[in-house]
Parts: sequence; structure tokens; C-alpha cells
Amino acid sequence: MSVDDESQARADEQAGPGNASPPTIAQSEVLESIIKRRRMRRNFDDRPIEPAVLEQILETARRAPSAGHTQATEFVVLNGPAATARYWDVTLSGSRRHSFRWQGLLRAPVLVLACTRPQAYTTRYSEPDKASTGRGNHLDDWPVPYWWFDAGAAAQNLLLLATANDLGACLFGPFDHEKSLKQTFALDDDLRIAAVVALGYPLPDEDGRSVNRGWRRPDEVIHHVLS
Ligand SMILES: Cc1cc2nc3c(=O)[nH]c(=O)nc-3n(C[C@H](O)[C@H](O)[C@H](O)COP(=O)(O)O)c2cc1C
Repeated sequence: MSVDDESQARADEQAGPGNASPPTIAQSEVLESIIKRRRMRRNFDDRPIEPAVLEQILETARRAPSAGHTQATEFVVLNGPAATARYWDVTLSGSRRHSFRWQGLLRAPVLVLACTRPQAYTTRYSEPDKASTGRGNHLDDWPVPYWWFDAGAAAQNLLLLATANDLGACLFGPFDHEKSLKQTFALDDDLRIAAVVALGYPLPDEDGRSVNRGWRRPDEVIHHVLS
């Protein structure tokens, strides 16, 4: 980001919602190229991420939209080999570790647990400005569980910011290990782990098998309704 871009971004932030200046074509091209360049990377150098870079990525990624501005997504950052080893000890123990296809993923210097607090949404939606939505009592009343949605938006921010900073990132789930991970890292009972994002300097990689499926055609996924 140039100095001009930075001061513009600061001015836009201070301008408040709806008052920011429209993005220039150059900005939109940069964003488009970052979105298209992003790939899940599963082979990392063990070089640590500079603390200032990591902090900037985390601080920016958290600025994701959230329902009711609840902001219940939280990042638990496992930084360095001692912390990340504890993650892999829980999720990939013994012989499974040796036969694991993505050995280079185990070298990622940082694992971010993208977490959320579902109950924060019922609490927020009990407040006077939201109570009429009827979502303030039970999580079951939410047709779309926005806590997962919001954590996903923040996780995508992490992936894109990693790409923009020439880092690699891979998102994956802890599957059946959530409970053990919560115990290992002494996480609050009401905190749920939505996904894990590995971050680090990428080494040459092979794509995951799913990539062979290719992209669906635009007309299969974009449906214009004109009247
Ligand atoms: C919610 C979610 C869960 C995923 N879980 C895994 C996973 O467990 N292991 C993995 O290697 N990749 C995982 N991926 C990565 C996808 O396989 C990948 O995004 C997809 O194949 C497209 O490749 P690309 O992201 O490199 O374009 C996951 C992606 C998402 C969005």
C-alpha cells in the first residue's frame, strides 16, 4: 500500500459508514488479483512470521462484517513450534502423523484458531434495537447460524491478507478434535472453533485433490433475475 493509499484508507475509516470515497480502478484490480491468486498452501518453510506483519494481518482480518456488529469471532493464535506442536499432538497423533500427506503443513509457524461465541448472538439480539427479530432467546431460532458465517468472513480476510503479504495460508477444520483442543488450550466453554488457518512462508506445493474439480461456470452459480 502506498503512503497515499494509506492516508486515504485512514480518511475513509474516519469518514464513517457510507461516506468513504469510492475505490479507484487500481484498488479494485489489486483486490481482484489477490482474490484470484489466493490458493490453499500446504507446504511451509519453518521461518517465523515477523511479529509486526502477523499483528497487522490479525488486526485487519478481525474487521470483518458481523451480524448486529456482534464481533464474536476471536482468534487464538498458536505462534511458534512449541505452540503449534501441541495442536498437532492432539489432532494428528502417532502413526497418523507419519503417513499424513501434507508434511509441510506441519511446519507452518502459525496456526490461528478462528473461534466464535454463538451465545454472544442471542445476547446481542436481546438488546432493544434487535429484540423484535425474535433471535434473542435460543440459537435454534436462527435459520442461518450467523456465528459461523461471521467467522468465515474473518477467516477469508486472513487468507486474503496472507496472500497480499506474500505469505501462504491453508484453512482446515479440527473435525472431531474440538473438545480436546479446547482442553489443551484452556479455551472458554462457550468458545467454538470454526476453523483453523495455517500461516507461513510457502514452499512449492501441489494442489489438494479437490482442485481438480475446477471452477463451476459463472452461469451455474450466478443467477440474474431481471423482472
Ligand atoms: C470450510 C473449508 C474447509 C476445508 N477443509 C480442508 C481440509 O480439511 N483440508 C484441506 O487440505 N483443505 C481444506 N479446505 C480447502 C479446500 O479444499 C480448497 O479451498 C478447495 O479445494 C479449493 O482450492 P483453493 O482454495 O486452493 O482454490 C477447506 C476449505 C474450506 C472453505
